Amino acid sequence: MSTRKAPSPTIPPTTMFSTFLTFILSVLLLQIPPSLGATYDVDVAPGDRPVFEPNTLAAEAGDVINFIFHGRNHTATQSTLDSPCTALSGGFDTGFVALAAGGSSPVIQYRVAHTDPVVFFSSLLDHCARGMTFTLNLRATPTSSSSLEDAYITPPPHHWNYATATVSHAASTWTTIYKSFDGIPPPVPSDVPGDHRILVGANNELEFSPSNISAAVGDTVTFEFRSGTHSVVQSDFLTPCQSLEDSSRTPGFSSGFRPTSASTTGFPQFQILINDTAPIWGFCGAPGHCGLGMVFSINAVESGPNNFSAFQGLARHINGSENDASVFTSSQTNTFGHPAQNNGGMERDMSERGMLWLGLLLAWFACC
Ligand SMILES: *[C@@H]1O[C@H](CO)[C@@H](O)[C@H](O)[C@H]1NC(C)=O
Ligand SMILES: *[C@@H]1O[C@H](CO)[C@@H](O)[C@H](O)[C@H]1NC(C)=O
Ligand SMILES: *[C@@H]1O[C@H](CO)[C@@H](O)[C@H](O)[C@H]1NC(C)=O
Ligand SMILES: *[C@@H]1O[C@H](CO)[C@@H](O)[C@H](O)[C@H]1NC(C)=O
Ligand SMILES: *[C@@H]1O[C@H](CO)[C@@H](O)[C@H](O)[C@H]1NC(C)=O
Repeated sequence: MSTRKAPSPTIPPTTMFSTFLTFILSVLLLQIPPSLGATYDVDVAPGDRPVFEPNTLAAEAGDVINFIFHGRNHTATQSTLDSPCTALSGGFDTGFVALAAGGSSPVIQYRVAHTDPVVFFSSLLDHCARGMTFTLNLRATPTSSSSLEDAYITPPPHHWNYATATVSHAASTWTTIYKSFDGIPPPVPSDVPGDHRILVGANNELEFSPSNISAAVGDTVTFEFRSGTHSVVQSDFLTPCQSLEDSSRTPGFSSGFRPTSASTTGFPQFQILINDTAPIWGFCGAPGHCGLGMVFSINAVESGPNNFSAFQGLARHINGSENDASVFTSSQTNTFGHPAQNNGGMERDMSERGMLWLGLLLAWFACC
C-alpha cells in the first residue's frame, strides 16, 4: 500500500523511469539464485569410509554443495545414472583431493544448475563400484506422507546362537559349530552341488528374479546382469542398502557395477559360493535402486520376522519411497529402469516467476 503512494504525478518522467529501473533491477536481483540458494555440506569419505554423507540430496537451482574431503585422495566426479562410475565428459570433476598438510579438510563447491538428477562418484580405486556415489534430485514428485509411514514397525534384528551339527559328506564325517539363526537348517552340504541363477534387471525391471531363494552348502549362486547398470552387494538385514563392509566393517561380496551393452555377446555374470545356511542379504548398489526394492535374499527364514518381504520393506522404508515425502513412483521409471528426468520443479519455478513478473508490471502500471 505504501508503495502505491510513493510515485506522485509531479515526479518528472525520467525519475519515474529510474524508479521503474530500480524496481526491475531489484526484482532481477531477487531472481539471482546466489542470494536465495541454500548451502549443503557433503562429507567425502568421513572417517575414511568409502561414502558420501549424505549420499543423496534434493536441491534447487542456485543452491551450493560443499564437498568436504576428509579421506585420503578422493574425487567428486560427475557421471550419469546409466553409467554411475564413468566420468561424464565435460562434467564436473574435482580431481583427486588429498587432505591438506595439518589435516584440514579441503572444500570444493558445486553449484546446482537445475533440478534434474545429477550423479557423482569417487574415482579412487573401486570405491564407486562398492557404492560410493552421491546423487542430487534423484527423488522427485512430492506426495503426501502416507499413513503407512506412521504404521511402519521396523522388524527385529536377527536372533541367532551357536549350534553343533554332525555332518557327513562323501566318506567323511565331522562335527561343526555354526552360527544358527532361528529356523535355519544345519549346514549340511548338498550331495550334488547345484547352481542357482538369479537374473539382475531382466526385462528392464529394477529387480532380482527370483529375489529370494534357498541354497544348500556347496551350491553356487550365479547372478546374471541382463540390462542397464547394476551391481550385487552383500548387506545385512537391518541395513539393507549399505554394504556389509560399510555397516559393520565385515567383508562381504560385491560384484562392482556390471553394465550390459548391446555389443557384447552373453551377459556379465557374478558367482558366489554358499558356505553355510545362514541367511544372506544383498542389494543393487546403483543409485536409487535399492530404495525402490531392488534387493534379494538367500536362505531367509520365511516363517519368521526376518523374511524376504520384511527385508524389502525395510529397504524401501529406509532408502526409498516410504522414507520421505518425495518419491519415485513406478510410472516415472523409463524403459531403462531409471527414474525419469523431472522437470516439474523447473516448470513450476518458471511459471511462478512469470506470475511474479506479471504481477509486478501490473502493480507498476496501476500505480504510475
Ligand atoms: C591420488 O590417486 C591418484 C590415482 O590413484 C594418483 O595418481 C595420485 O598420485 C594420488 N595422489 C595422492 C596425493 O596420493
Ligand atoms: C540407504 O540409507 C542409509 C541411511 O541413510 C545410507 O547410509 C545408505 O548409504 C543408503 N543406501 C543407498 C544405496 O543409497
Ligand atoms: C565362501 O567362502 C569362500 C572362500 O572362503 C569365499 O570366497 C566366499 O565369498 C564365501 N561365500 C560367501 C557367500 O560369503
Ligand atoms: C515377515 O516379517 C514381518 C516383519 O517382521 C512379519 O510381520 C510377518 O509376520 C512375517 N511373515 C511371516 C510369514 O512370518
Ligand atoms: C520369497 O518371499 C515370499 C515373501 O516373503 C515368500 O512368500 C516366499 O515363500 C519366498 N520364497 C522362497 C523360495 O523363499
